[in-house]
Amino acid sequence: MNKRVTLSELDHLDRELVEAAQEACTRAYAPYSLFAVGAAVRSTSGKIHTAANVENASYGLTICAEAAALSAANAAGDFTVEVIAVVGFCIRDAGNSSQIVTPCGSCRQLIIEAAQVTGSDVRILCCNGELSSIGVSSISELLPDAFGLASIGTTSQPQLWREKLQTRVEGLIAQRTKR
Ligand code: THU
Repeated sequence: MNKRVTLSELDHLDRELVEAAQEACTRAYAPYSLFAVGAAVRSTSGKIHTAANVENASYGLTICAEAAALSAANAAGDFTVEVIAVVGFCIRDAGNSSQIVTPCGSCRQLIIEAAQVTGSDVRILCCNGELSSIGVSSISELLPDAFGLASIGTTSQPQLWREKLQTRVEGLIAQRTKR
């Protein structure tokens, strides 16, 4: 990641986003790793969706903050992701939260899917706990030559597919209510 900035160098929208991600760290459920991560997604509508990591005694079922935030955006019917901010730090290490956190490989794959749905790159703001160091990047930079919709020859366009789904669900509801 080439570009590093400080909080004051961000415009007010990005600043609001990284602050939301930092605040989301308070909701981390991380009793195993003691590593808190908060993520905040901003969609093209301007809305912000936040989440934190959720760990599990089985370890492997852990849900990353980015995955949870993307899922929250989708659940809100607002999946046209423009930018995602990630903040993380070790809870154990009281004085040291200076290292920035970048999305893990799985999360990069989830972000590229969102980028393909929207049809444009997704910016990624990778922050340390203090927000004193912010890496500015994009999913095409963090996951080049990605595997995606086109790789498996998918021809359905995600937006059209959603409209069809909407019509189908409306039909199901209409059927139920006239019974
Ligand atoms: N984690 C995230 O939430 N996002 C990432 O991109 C990297 C890792 C979480 C998972 C786990 O709860 C903790 O950080 C330590 O790996």
